[in-house]
Amino acid sequence: MAELGFEVIGVDIDPAKVEILQSGRVPFYEPGLPEVLHRNIAAGRLRFTTSLAEAATAADIHFICVGTPQQSGANAADLSQVFGSIQALAPHLRTGALVVGKSTVPVGTAALLAEQLALTAPAAEVAWNPEFLREGFAVTDTLHPDRLVVGVRSQHAEELLRQVYAPLIDQGVPFLVTDFPTAELVKVAANSFLATKISFINAMAEVCEAAGADITQLAEAIGYDPRIGNQFLAAGLGFGGGCLPKDIRAFMARAGELGAEEALAFLREVDQINLRQRAHTVSLALAALDGSFAGRNVTVLGAAFKPDSDDVRDSPALAVAAAIHNAGGNVVVHDPKALANAARVYPTLTYLEDVTEALAGAELVLHLTEWPEYRELDPAKITSTAKPRHLIDARNRLDPQLWRAAGWTYRALGRPTA
Ligand code: UGA
Repeated sequence: MAELGFEVIGVDIDPAKVEILQSGRVPFYEPGLPEVLHRNIAAGRLRFTTSLAEAATAADIHFICVGTPQQSGANAADLSQVFGSIQALAPHLRTGALVVGKSTVPVGTAALLAEQLALTAPAAEVAWNPEFLREGFAVTDTLHPDRLVVGVRSQHAEELLRQVYAPLIDQGVPFLVTDFPTAELVKVAANSFLATKISFINAMAEVCEAAGADITQLAEAIGYDPRIGNQFLAAGLGFGGGCLPKDIRAFMARAGELGAEEALAFLREVDQINLRQRAHTVSLALAALDGSFAGRNVTVLGAAFKPDSDDVRDSPALAVAAAIHNAGGNVVVHDPKALANAARVYPTLTYLEDVTEALAGAELVLHLTEWPEYRELDPAKITSTAKPRHLIDARNRLDPQLWRAAGWTYRALGRPTA
């Protein structure tokens, strides 16, 4: 928003985070974000505070960007941060203020919040404006989105949001105006479709493996059909992160509450297929080591849920690493950016920052997050003297011939064994 020319105040309840941001640093890894942050702090358009009162009284538009994680022990979303932040904001809202929800919420939430706000801040209004950015591409996706979707209940709200997004609308970004429930559903429908696409190709990978076919060629071939498209057809270890897994579960839970459970029954299968890739990878690893992990040296390449991120929330790579560690393997994990976060979640794994060191002594290497630098590895230079040496490429990105020529056995998900 500051990059688009607005004066922006970022509010967080965590003083440490606010201090880091105010000093021009980003408390997580996101390519391109530090530059944007610096530029806009320096231009005086962006600052950070823990004082909601101070920030709220200065603003006309209030974006709610808090998390909606999965409830512990249930599939539904935990909405406490959304309700909590709006409740805290209400007393400070000026007449005509617009509260814009960005968080991914169960359909019906915006209407509930509007009802609540009507009691506590009747002069303010709610709008819903789902966020579609991807981690790793956050800056580009924000400044050049595929589309903007706003759920509104008044002309006033629509006009304000048209003003906010004018620079993007002028660039030709589609601007869709709709009601609350449609706006909320667009977001979960989009993520459910993406999750389904990944699980579809992973289901095909299972069949390819049983039939001796090659999933990478199959995906390329079907992807040329523009009705299918070639994106999100990378078969492998499946999806993780803070969005797709919890969003499809919360969507199923909400559909159940609405009496539309059957409509989303397929998402249970999407989730199952996805989790099966992790279990399958562990069993391929076990088979490579002749049925026992005990005391065996295993190196895991990748801890983040995807490359270009240091996010390890529901990371498939870490789940596999932890499973092998729990079964007795000596697991060493490498990741270019996510080691500190990984160590907080699984403190008992061994983490090494140097990839050469991490690979030395490996009997089995698992390629679990497709950071580009792993493609640059020269298997002939890996110092491990273990015999035989095994590679499992659970992201289907490494060159089988190169690794086999260097004396490694190569296995991938959904590809022929030799
Ligand atoms: C996802 C959506 O792509 C965004 O549009 C959405 O805004 C965001 O969730 C959100 O709800 O906030 P993100 O979680 O950053 O974005 O990551 P994705 O790029 O969607 O990847 C998700 C997972 O799918 C990763 O673990 C990735 O490795 C996996 N994936 C992706 C595959 O296994 N195969 C593919 O072909 C593509």
